[in-house]
Amino acid sequence: MPATTSPIRTWFPTRIYCAPLQAAALTRFNTELAHECRQLRDFDAEGRAWSKKNYPGGYTSYASMNTLHQFSSTFAELEKKIQRHVRTFAKSLDMDLRNREIRMTDCWVNIMPETASHSMHLHPNSFISGTYYVATPAGCPGLKFEDPRLASLMAAPPKLPNADASNRLYTTYPAEAGNVILFESWLRHEVAQNRSAEERISVSFNYSWS
Ligand code: NI
Repeated sequence: MPATTSPIRTWFPTRIYCAPLQAAALTRFNTELAHECRQLRDFDAEGRAWSKKNYPGGYTSYASMNTLHQFSSTFAELEKKIQRHVRTFAKSLDMDLRNREIRMTDCWVNIMPETASHSMHLHPNSFISGTYYVATPAGCPGLKFEDPRLASLMAAPPKLPNADASNRLYTTYPAEAGNVILFESWLRHEVAQNRSAEERISVSFNYSWS
């Protein structure tokens, strides 16, 4: 090894993907999506009841209408647009998807009015998950990820106040309408309380392979 090379290298990285869904303007598409998300909330009594218990202050169709890409042409279009991002992300992880199919299995809506939050969780039964941002009013919370090794760090000293971002135990991606964020489904994440008076709207999804 040349003397100039650092003796320390990084292994087992945790990767997070964030990119605009497409280069062209998405305003009309997002307006249409936001409209459908709110329509769904009006229509989905079961989901509203579920959210009351499990998603305080907000609405999610996670437990009621969670295959939206199979029922709505707008969500089907979103699925089509997301697919290439998932492939790119899987490729960056060197996942062997040759002669294998990847499939969006779940697709659901999250509407967070002021004060709604979503505590730390992961996405079971899938390998890549993500979120697409539809409406992100100024000051609305981002997506906060937790170091997956947190439980293994019980004897480690705290991090320096000026610790490098890649060495911190949490990282937060701002929520930006038009962006898609992807992560491996085991990576825990949460959304802090919405302090904007306007609704934050996102569409979340899971992928599996076969
Ligand atoms: Ni999630």
